[in-house]
This record gives sequence, C-alpha cells and structure tokens, in this order.
Amino acid sequence: MIGPMARVFVTRLLPGDAVDRLGAAGHEAEVWEGPMPPTRKQLEAGVARSEGLLCLLTDRIDAQLLDAAPRLRAVANMAVGTDNIDLGECSRRGIAVGNTPGVLTEATADLTFALILAAARRLLEAADAVRAGEWRTWGPADWLGVDVHGATLGIIGLGKIGRAVLRRSEGFGMRVIHHNRRSGLSLDTVLAESDFVSIHCPLTEETRGLIGERELGLMKPTAILVNTARGEIVDTGALTRALVEGRLGGAALDVTDPEPLSADDPLLRVPNVTVLPHIGSASKATRESMADLAVDNLLAALAGRPMPHQVAP
Ligand code: DGY
Repeated sequence: MIGPMARVFVTRLLPGDAVDRLGAAGHEAEVWEGPMPPTRKQLEAGVARSEGLLCLLTDRIDAQLLDAAPRLRAVANMAVGTDNIDLGECSRRGIAVGNTPGVLTEATADLTFALILAAARRLLEAADAVRAGEWRTWGPADWLGVDVHGATLGIIGLGKIGRAVLRRSEGFGMRVIHHNRRSGLSLDTVLAESDFVSIHCPLTEETRGLIGERELGLMKPTAILVNTARGEIVDTGALTRALVEGRLGGAALDVTDPEPLSADDPLLRVPNVTVLPHIGSASKATRESMADLAVDNLLAALAGRPMPHQVAP
C-alpha cells in the first residue's frame, strides 16, 4: 500500500481536467509541458522521483527506464495499445500497468471508415486538385475511384475496434469477412478475397510484420490496405514496393513505421497513399475520456486497489 501522497510524472499536457483529479486526491502531479515528448534523459529524471507515471504511446517504458525508477508503483498508459511498455518487466517488479480500452473504440472506427472512403473515392487527391486550380470542368472520366458499397471488407483482428468497423460496414452494404486468432477465415483467404483490408489487431511479437511481401502479394491488385492499429504490423518497405509496382490499389494509413514518417519517405511519393499522423482517437471527447481513464487507473493503484483497466501484472 502506497501512502496517500504520491508523486506522478505526466509525460505531456493532457486535454480536459483529468490531471487536476490527481491533485484533488492529494497527489502531486509533475506535468511535462513541452511540445515534444520528454527525451529519454528527461523521462528518466521524471520517473526517478515518482511513484506514478502517466505516459503515452511515444514513451518507451523498458527495463532500463524502470532501473531509474526505484519508487515507481503504477504506470497508466493513455492508450489502449501497450506495445510501448515492457509488461513482463513491470510485472516482475510489481508495477501495475493500465490502459484505456473502450472509450476510443467508436472514434477509431469512425476514422477507419473515413480512411476507407477517402482512399476509395480519392478524396485527398481530388481536394488537392481543387486547391491547385485544376478543376476546369466536370469530366466523365475524372477522379474515378472504386465503390465502397457492395465491396468486400476484410477485417484483421476482430476485437472491440474491429467489431465497431464491422457495424459501420453493414450500413454501407459491404460483405465482411475476418481473420482473428480463434475465429474467422485464414489470413491468406481474407487477404485474397477482400477489396479493402483493415487492420485492427494489437502489435505483439506475433503480429509484428504480419503483412509483408508474401501477404501483400496475395491481395487483389486493386485492393486498398487500411491500417489504424500499429505501423509495425505492416512491412513499410514491402508496402511501398507493392504500391510503386502497381501490385496494390492503394493504402490508407493512420499509423506508420516509423512514426512520425519523414516527409521525404518514399511511401509519401506514391499517389494512391493517404497517411494521417496517428489521429484515430483524436476527438476532444475521446481524448478527454482516455485521460480520465488513465487517471482512474492511477488513483486506484496509488490507493492500493486494482486498476479498473489493469493489463499487468
Ligand atoms: C491507442 O490507444 O493505442 C491508439 O493508438 C491511440 O489512441
């Protein structure tokens, strides 16, 4: 049981007033207010003096960092994904780790559909053309895309977000197939039969590089790959080659490997690619709920109770 007053290092300014609740509960929050995440050194200094850590997917929480954090008892990640945290190492040290599932499901599914529609109907290219003064007349063969209605959507990973995407696809009259660890069709069948393949599995050692050269080769040459999960699930080099060589119809990505993707990355020179800066959960209400849930997790652990959403130990 940790004493009533704990020090919590919060690695960024968060939307809403969630962090105020730490103070109201008698804890001391030290918030990193920089526009960029703390450097490794700054993160180490922050955790060295803290019992609690509220971190983001941009913070790597590994054994080396934990070595610098002898007092740390609770880590709350403001994300559903916890691939930035060495869960085994936290468990071994008795450090509770929590995440923020549920509250970002619908916002992420909304953005997935925005990407599907944008890629299918070439929204970004067409809007850019208008801004560039290239809209001269209505052309019967201009800006032709592909239909979303009636198309086959292949969902990889049928968890909360995958199911929320499935619900939306019903409204669009799509045929849906899926691949999950214990249900659905084989990955190869889903890849081969889909017009849109949308990735919704977590990043684990099993899913890292799941979509590589071979898997992209199974997809229809007209198919569009959508990723709102984690960039490392897709081999970026293989994807770029498949697009450049016309072996794939397009890609719509909210996540990339690496993040951020540099502006001169070859992937961004391919016309049928839409890349967003990891904004799946970026609605005001959703991000505030995520911050609230992260604080709920910390408050529980700092009071010696299980976190409402504890993923380790
Ligand atoms: C998550 O929560 O894991 C998302 O990637 C960020 O909202």
